[in-house]
Amino acid sequence: MTNLKNFEKLPAHVGIIMDGNGRWAKKRFLPRSMGHKAGAKAVRKAVEFAARVGLECLTLYAFSSENWKRPQEEIDSLMDLLLKFLKKELPNLQKQNIALRIIGDLGRFPQHLQAELGKAMRATENNDGMVLCIALGYGGQDEILFAVNKLVEQGIKKIDKQDLEANLFTAGLPELDLLIRTSGEQRISNFLLWQSAYSEFWFTQVLWPDFDEKEFEKALVEFASRHRRYGDV
Ligand code: FPP
Repeated sequence: MTNLKNFEKLPAHVGIIMDGNGRWAKKRFLPRSMGHKAGAKAVRKAVEFAARVGLECLTLYAFSSENWKRPQEEIDSLMDLLLKFLKKELPNLQKQNIALRIIGDLGRFPQHLQAELGKAMRATENNDGMVLCIALGYGGQDEILFAVNKLVEQGIKKIDKQDLEANLFTAGLPELDLLIRTSGEQRISNFLLWQSAYSEFWFTQVLWPDFDEKEFEKALVEFASRHRRYGDV
């Protein structure tokens, strides 16, 4: 069990680019879908840990707007996994007082999955513990354009920071303090572009299915030691 006192400065909002499921599977001569399945188990552990240490919000990049380019078979297995995850985890989310929120464009997602996502969001909307935000069909550039177009449609001539932020999918969520990416890649890959303007970044070689409490804790300990200046001296 983690020594919670370690985290003198806990981030309010952590985002994770969960990368490396495919490589995890390849190393074991397994199909990619098995990597995603193992990744879903790591999601459950990360959510439980984040809620226990007291994060206000955890945002997970589960399916990007670019992921539609993947082979249909892989897309189908990811959709299936998401559906199973939702059904299985909903009681646990309730027990942990977690509110589920989805960010992204669900338009291309199967109808039944959209319906289940809506149901799970409504069922947990009054939970006042951590917000679990899952990015699905999400792209940071699309999100900014969507917000700008909404404001233009309203006839706004000059857009300020507050207007824009109020129209992002993440409106109302705390500022993104820490961004984690697993598997050794060091890119933002169109994730939370606006929101990460002043985030701390933390990268690990660990592949997502192997990301456990210990690794999450390392990121939080490192975050606590960082000095954020926001452009000041
Ligand atoms: C990146 O690894 C991972 C994804 C595109 C999907 C993330 C999905 C999960 C972790 C499981 C399901 C999620 C939830 C919320 C239940 P990759 O496939 O790009 O790996 P690679 O770079 O090693 O090929």
